[in-house]
Amino acid sequence: MIGIFDSGVGGLTVVRALMQQLPGHDMVYFGDTARTPYGTKSRETVISYAVENTEFLIDKGAGIIVMACNSASSVATETLREKFDVPVFEVITPAVELSVKISDTYRVGVIGTRATINSGIYEKKILEKNPKAKVFSAPCPLLVPLVEEGWFEKPETRMIVKKYLHPLKIKQIDTLILGCTHYPIIKNLIMHKIGKKVKIIDSSIAIANMVKDYLDETPDMEKILQKNGRTEFFVSDYTIQFEKTAKTLLGGNIKLQQTKR
Ligand code: DGL
Repeated sequence: MIGIFDSGVGGLTVVRALMQQLPGHDMVYFGDTARTPYGTKSRETVISYAVENTEFLIDKGAGIIVMACNSASSVATETLREKFDVPVFEVITPAVELSVKISDTYRVGVIGTRATINSGIYEKKILEKNPKAKVFSAPCPLLVPLVEEGWFEKPETRMIVKKYLHPLKIKQIDTLILGCTHYPIIKNLIMHKIGKKVKIIDSSIAIANMVKDYLDETPDMEKILQKNGRTEFFVSDYTIQFEKTAKTLLGGNIKLQQTKR
């Protein structure tokens, strides 16, 4: 099965995209709700959480790991690939590859948590692919709590999004990477505020496409992953509020299970 983890329930946007691209595949999701957010924590702490989350998913039978969390993907990819034998996917590379492909002016914006933006990973990877690119990044720390509160359309959210995007807008970016699990939920609002001409990259869709391409090209792996259409959802701290957010993100009637404390 495909194992997916995130710092909380935001990574369900990646599960949603994987379900669309790979219908029928068994999946196991782990949301580290007891220790969320990762976006405000140090690199060392996030790496150690990512290692534990991967161990948990492999124990549950995951044959490949998808790090849905941008903050974890920014700092923990190398460690996980060194430590574990299973293929590990992260959300940064597919979004970077797409941005390089679709940007006409090579002026690319990136928004994410402080951990992601401070890591400089998007900028580094974009410049590796296209040294002529100009990358403009903005941390947007208030957006995760606003989305988790379900404040998708509130005037306060609109105002904050506008304020965060202003520095990118004046740099006349033509492509914007949504470098955080939560931002696809307010994609329409972001599109509206940055301007309709700017191409938006939703990293949840980009990673799902990358996993699908990998499985198409790796039939041996595709064969060993089970396909009974089952998905299990685990969280390290169950609360009704998280279940409510999870249902909003994924739709339908999902049931979160508490991991052993
Ligand atoms: N999942 C995180 C990310 O994509 C957002 C929430 C957090 O800060 O933990 O960066």
